[in-house]
Amino acid sequence: MKIYLVTGGAGFIGSNFIIYMLKTYNNIKIINVDKLTYAGNLENLKEVENNLNYMFVKADICNKKEISRIFYEYDIDYVVNFAAESHVDRSINDPEIFVRTNVLGVQNILNIAKNSWEIDSGFKGEKKFVQISTDEVYGSLGDTGYFTENNPLDPHSPYSASKAAADLIIKSYYDTYSMPVNITRCSNNYGPYQFPEKLIPLIINNCLSKKVLPVYGDGLNIRDWLYVEDHCKAIDMVLKKGRIGEVYNVGGHNERTNIHVVKTIIKYIYENFDSAVTDDLIEYVKDRKGHDRRYGIDPTKINKELDWKPTTSFETGIKKTINWYIKNEEWLKNVISEGYKNYYKKMYGDI
Ligand code: NAD
Ligand code: TYD
Repeated sequence: MKIYLVTGGAGFIGSNFIIYMLKTYNNIKIINVDKLTYAGNLENLKEVENNLNYMFVKADICNKKEISRIFYEYDIDYVVNFAAESHVDRSINDPEIFVRTNVLGVQNILNIAKNSWEIDSGFKGEKKFVQISTDEVYGSLGDTGYFTENNPLDPHSPYSASKAAADLIIKSYYDTYSMPVNITRCSNNYGPYQFPEKLIPLIINNCLSKKVLPVYGDGLNIRDWLYVEDHCKAIDMVLKKGRIGEVYNVGGHNERTNIHVVKTIIKYIYENFDSAVTDDLIEYVKDRKGHDRRYGIDPTKINKELDWKPTTSFETGIKKTINWYIKNEEWLKNVISEGYKNYYKKMYGDI
């Protein structure tokens, strides 16, 4: 039975990944290690909490002793690292925690995995460390072209810079020690359990409570959207079949401007749930500092080498996502804690 150490598994993508893996395989064990920051929520994992193949440990990836103990107690086969501070706006307001978790924390778990797995200066068996990185490490595109794995790293926000730093440290462990690693660089995800500070759940949540829909700048920045389950399948394939030391971009050519995304959500809610939700709620607000204009993934490598393709189009995925948040309004209410309300108030004023 393979043992997976999933770090950051109580967050958005990590919880979707754990649920997907436990639904797909009954012969694996998953140990979820999460610090439970504002973004981590064990409610996301309710449907698997009693699964005998699942276990939760509350710990910080920066903590040497606690992470070492997990490697001492369990013969970990795979590490999949989702743990991160993940919100660009927060990184602009307070960069320090991003360096701590996203750089030093990654170095800590990487080093402990290396020390635990390395025998006589070699790595035996099927061990692998997979880092969940982001397309944001490549910086921003103009009107044409796509990010390939060979693009230079050119991050602009403290968030993307911290992710790029981690990618380089992981690459150095492959180059220096031949440690079995892969890095995935995915475009923007959306779907169930995403914390409502990111564009799509924030807009859905604000529509449901008739709050202003803040659109940064001219609303014409472009993101390449991927339904979270497609990302989870890609990670599973990289774990199984990814060539050691390689980077895989993950994306499905679903580029949309932010204003298109916002208007799509409004239209669907207006037509199906509430005719009081209209474009009048949109408010163009001050642009994000250093706001990347466009992201767009070239997924040729993962398509060709691992035969991965996304199965959910943006039009289908966004409807599924809106339906999920409407059905799970309780979840939405519960995750917006007092701390988050204060943060939101600081960003946008009274809510
Ligand atoms: P998220 O913010 O929803 O979840 C992050 C999780 O990490 C939370 O459960 C949090 O409690 C945990 N965590 C934070 N600091 C920790 C620490 N020091 N020790 C242990 N746990 C800690 O993030 P997400 O959107 O699920 O993103 C997961 C990963 O995927 C991140 O590494 C992010 O950079 C990457 N990524 C995200 C997207 C996206 O669109 N969301 C796209 C590409 C890549
Ligand atoms: P976000 O979900 O924060 O993801 P990222 O910055 O990692 O791409 O933002 C997606 C896009 O939406 C980005 O261009 C910023 C924009 N945006 C808004 O216009 N309004 C908002 O309230 C938020 C959170 C984001």
